[in-house]
Amino acid sequence: MRPQTLLWQHARRLRRFAALLWAHVQDAWHFAQGSGLLNDAPQAVRAAHALKTMHRLEKGWALPNPRAGFGVDTVQLLGRQLSFHQERSGSDWIWLEGQATLWRYRQYAQGAAPSELSERMSAQEVQHAARQDFASLVKSRRSVRQFTGAPLPEGCLQRAAELAALSPSVCNRSGARLWVATEPEMRAQVLRLQDGHQGFADRAAAVAVVTVDLAVFHTVGERHQAWVDGGLFAMTLVHALHHEGLGCCCLNWSVTPQMDRAFKRLVGLPAQDAVVMLLAVGVLPEHYTVAHSPRRPLSEVLHTLECSP
Ligand SMILES: Cc1cc2nc3c(=O)[nH]c(=O)nc-3n(C[C@H](O)[C@H](O)[C@H](O)COP(=O)(O)O)c2cc1C
Repeated sequence: MRPQTLLWQHARRLRRFAALLWAHVQDAWHFAQGSGLLNDAPQAVRAAHALKTMHRLEKGWALPNPRAGFGVDTVQLLGRQLSFHQERSGSDWIWLEGQATLWRYRQYAQGAAPSELSERMSAQEVQHAARQDFASLVKSRRSVRQFTGAPLPEGCLQRAAELAALSPSVCNRSGARLWVATEPEMRAQVLRLQDGHQGFADRAAAVAVVTVDLAVFHTVGERHQAWVDGGLFAMTLVHALHHEGLGCCCLNWSVTPQMDRAFKRLVGLPAQDAVVMLLAVGVLPEHYTVAHSPRRPLSEVLHTLECSP
């Protein structure tokens, strides 16, 4: 190759890399401005903190064996967050849901069994609903944190993965991959660096990792596409597993780049893959409970865009 051509190629690569860096700097600025990373004063940030604290308590009651007396600090924090929230937003749905969680905590402190404080589910009813129309499938899916420990029935993971692979992806690039661990030692290895599975995932029959191969993207504009395509893949997978009658809980992979690299080395995943999330999958007990997880009212979710006059 002629030296001029080589130089031109290097210059082009350098220009693209500079464009990527600049885009990331702007992303970082956007995140720093919009999120609660640097500023927890905005009302939406405060409200999200309160929702997260409520979930910590509600999730605790939905574990197979909650730690006795757990949540003393958490409930005090929630009390403070809710008072603050009410002063600014009044007694809105978050405040009301928070009061319900505090009430459940009082019941718990007075000796109520955790299973009485969570939503009771019957595997038979849930599995029936998951085979009805789409609305029943979606409404009956919940994050499951109680499993029998039995292995998954033959073929169900394969069928679910086949459906997940039908998820849309940008220009049909189809970069999503599913990595499954079923052997106990490998499951433990996959979970070692994940924060959020404690107290339940050891009873899952399989632990899965959803990744997206970055090799399928090539423009600066596509730098977040792995998480969009991987998220769509994961959602189809979760619904397909639910349709198979299995229990499933998404597990976050919200980590630093160092942790991400360590995880891929530990588990043996390709360095170039983007890890989207982990999943615990298992067989449903006949009866189990799930965490109360209130959703925002539709008025906060659905907005109409209108042309300005
Ligand atoms: C990307 C993602 C990561 C999650 N990570 C965890 C986790 O680490 N541990 C956990 O117990 N639940 C986790 N969840 C489950 C959420 O807590 C749950 O989806 C939410 O509370 C709503 O409840 P539902 O799934 O029962 O409707 C995660 C969910 C998503 C979508």
